[in-house]
Amino acid sequence: MLRRDMNRLALAWALSAWAGVQPALAAGQRQAGPTWQTDPFALGVASGQPHPDSVVLWTRLLMSDADAAQQASAQTVLCELFADEALRQPLRQWRVETDARRGHSVHVLATGLQPGRHYWYRFVCGSAQSVVGRTRTSPAPDARVPLLRIAQASCQHFEQGHYVAHREMAQRELDFVLFLGDYIYESSNPKYRIRPHRGGVPKTLEEYRQRHAQYKGDADLRACHAAHPWVMTWDDHEVVNDYANDQDNRFSDPALFLQRRAAAYQAYFEHMPVRIGPDPLAPHQMRIHDRMAWGQLADLWTLDCRQYRDHQACPDPNRGGARVVVGCDALQDVRRSMLGSAQEAWLMQGLVDSQRDSPGRWRLIAQATQMSSTGIATPLGRSTFNDAWDGYPMARERLLAGIAEMRLSNAVVLGGDVHMNVAANLRVRPNDEQSPVVASEIVTTSVSSRGMGDALLATIRENNPDIRHARSDERGYTLLDVRPQGVTATFRTTAFPVQPDSVMREQARYEVLTGQSGVQRA
Ligand SMILES: [Fe+2]
Repeated sequence: MLRRDMNRLALAWALSAWAGVQPALAAGQRQAGPTWQTDPFALGVASGQPHPDSVVLWTRLLMSDADAAQQASAQTVLCELFADEALRQPLRQWRVETDARRGHSVHVLATGLQPGRHYWYRFVCGSAQSVVGRTRTSPAPDARVPLLRIAQASCQHFEQGHYVAHREMAQRELDFVLFLGDYIYESSNPKYRIRPHRGGVPKTLEEYRQRHAQYKGDADLRACHAAHPWVMTWDDHEVVNDYANDQDNRFSDPALFLQRRAAAYQAYFEHMPVRIGPDPLAPHQMRIHDRMAWGQLADLWTLDCRQYRDHQACPDPNRGGARVVVGCDALQDVRRSMLGSAQEAWLMQGLVDSQRDSPGRWRLIAQATQMSSTGIATPLGRSTFNDAWDGYPMARERLLAGIAEMRLSNAVVLGGDVHMNVAANLRVRPNDEQSPVVASEIVTTSVSSRGMGDALLATIRENNPDIRHARSDERGYTLLDVRPQGVTATFRTTAFPVQPDSVMREQARYEVLTGQSGVQRA
């Protein structure tokens, strides 16, 4: 696609997302609207995508049966921004029209803000008022920042555990939460169900809305959104397990599957503090990949590993989806891509620009899954899990060889998806000591989704010396402290996410020192 067309599309998306924003109310003007029987702000508030001068503020009106009469009409929501926690210093207001076509969701792009500071916000609609959220802008582009503190998280199957991780994240001082996918799960496993999903497997927009709303019914998750801005990408379960581009795990007719994907993307947009929604001209497309900076300290890319990828190599012809393959020649096809050619080129150009402009800066490459290899030697050859980067080895080699060629220092890949904490070294040729370590990897365990068994993980570790730490037995999140001299990853975990009052502890701590690729135990 031509850049010109990309720009036009981006503009169309942006306008579609913000078309409802009206001029602000004058100060002191009363907010007209319904008298609510139940709280329409039960899903809470959220903020995200912080820039030096802006941040996205989000809520969605949820209407109970008692308020069903309001469902059909457009609603006006007032968004108020304050400079202080006590809400004594109002800064700006926005009046936003929303309606059933966007699930009564509200996205406000709060602009004209100052860099590197906190703001507080809330929403008002008729008789109802939301809780107060706190957010934060990123530092000015030229700011010398001593510390960036991120909570990295992924994979929060509602049925499989309580959100103890979110409770702790909500209470911490963080710059932002980095959520790397599997925010909702479409599927169920009756063996591990401490609190059931409502409804069956979602396929329609209304069903995806209900699933998202159930997840945001969790008080710890709401608290974590209200406490910090979130920076997000998605993985497969926001739509369906193991999907790849236009193919689902049952080889459904791609045209039908793309309709389902459009419903899932629309519901995702309606529930998340993200700038851009589905493309109105092609609603099965939604741009989620993005780039941001944290002053002079770090550049961060958030990648989309699902929408544009090639189908998994050598799938089971009957079952579809991901599997472990041996002797799969298709893996060596250099045309296959995890990111799609446009996103891949965009990332490489961004890395080149970043290295040229600020050689000492951290390059944080956040994506949904695991980049280091987890293959196992078998009598028939090395086994490969075809859904993670192992299933796209030539694309991985291109990326890591590109990083090596441009002598990019300080590249740290951040991942999720695999329900285990991993600290690993990344080489152009995995596990080959002749191939230098060119980047480092930190994968966070799941918030609540169950991990693989210890025996399999032990075999993976034995077969992959680049993996310096791997534990799949505990749930939690990862605290990343990014400083000019190094990045420290602290794995915060609990073995008991099924107990709502369990507490988190430190499982292990790894660090990457500036100018030295590779992880080491801190
Ligand atoms: Fe997951």
